[in-house]
Amino acid sequence: MAFLEIEDLRKVFGDTVAVDGVSLSVEKGEFVTVVGPSGCGKTTTLLNVAGLQTPTSGSITLRGRDLTNLPAYERDIGVVFQDYALFPHKTIAENIAFGLKMRGASEDERDRKVSEMLSMIDLEGYEASYPHECSGGQQQRVAVARALAFDPDLVLMDEPLSNLDKKLRKTMRTELKRIQRETGITTIYVTHNQTEALSMGDRIAVMNGGELEQFTDPKTAYERPDSPFVADFLGSSSRIDGTLSLGREPEINVDGATLAVEGREGFADGDRVASFFRTELVTLQADRLAGENVFQGTVKSVDYQGRDAVYFVTVPDLETTIQASGNATDRMLEPGDDVWLGIDPSNVIYTPAHGTITSSRDDTSPVEAQ
Ligand SMILES: Nc1ncnc2c1ncn2[C@@H]1O[C@H](COP(=O)(O)OP(=O)(O)OP(=O)(O)O)[C@@H](O)[C@H]1O
Ligand SMILES: [Mg+2]
Repeated sequence: MAFLEIEDLRKVFGDTVAVDGVSLSVEKGEFVTVVGPSGCGKTTTLLNVAGLQTPTSGSITLRGRDLTNLPAYERDIGVVFQDYALFPHKTIAENIAFGLKMRGASEDERDRKVSEMLSMIDLEGYEASYPHECSGGQQQRVAVARALAFDPDLVLMDEPLSNLDKKLRKTMRTELKRIQRETGITTIYVTHNQTEALSMGDRIAVMNGGELEQFTDPKTAYERPDSPFVADFLGSSSRIDGTLSLGREPEINVDGATLAVEGREGFADGDRVASFFRTELVTLQADRLAGENVFQGTVKSVDYQGRDAVYFVTVPDLETTIQASGNATDRMLEPGDDVWLGIDPSNVIYTPAHGTITSSRDDTSPVEAQ
């Protein structure tokens, strides 16, 4: 049994099925990120693990102990929720030391831990301040410190960095990962930010409509998504549907055009598939390109983004528009320019056109237990 086992968790509110049969095994010391569109059940899942809501059905086991009917305060779980405010009448130090005090830690130990935590969140000297004297971002950092300070078995974080500016967010991300590696505290981290999910997670759980779509390491999720939803949700890409043909060389037939692809387990000849070209993996140039998967097109529009630009290119052979990113400092292509696009067969992602592939589920192993 894994360190944390969520089994067939279901949570229903009236007519709304917020979480629809989620099963998740998390190993000790793992950092799991959870992503998915707004309303897909991320917060509800965490609230049920924390004991702040009661599941409609399913079970939650931590270190072999069934938590399902255990009140929140008896679970050794640190939480940081977006609207889970600090205690307004306690100082920053008292807030951070709260969990330690509840567990009978000595004053010396509390003081030591508070200074360690304040230095981690870059708020040295704030011991005696009150939450209302801190900015939203500072309060968020204190909330993170409060959740970690008592060395819980598990920490649940729901968008803990959402109030921070980009630079601080990046620093905190690195800091959080460092602390987590050092303390080995098993963490589940919900974020809207896909880069954050991919860069921080040992494994990434992608949720959709109350269900868990895929749970694997970030590289696999990005490069070998199991469903069109995961392929589309992580990163930017263009989708082209077609029929898989497994002759001598695997290829996808798209109304007259053919895409060379690499073989992937779990597919049969004639399967309807969705293929995806990652925007950053499409080669785009004005001069003729040679090789497989080369198409002629016309620039329809350009999305200038500073250093780079994303080009939207109409490709008659594929009857669609393909996005490709390019350097914007070189000679920029303009709408109306004729261009050549190319994508290496190894970079063409494909999934079943509907539903999800299940064959690759078992070949991902969690990180070593620490
Ligand atoms: N207390 C509640 N009562 C009724 N419906 C609820 C309640 N909490 C959540 N829901 C519904 O359950 C679904 C999942 O909500 P949840 O808050 O878990 O989504 P989320 O993935 O955290 O979204 P976001 O990214 O916007 O925070 C939504 O449709 C939401 O409206
Ligand atoms: Mg939420």
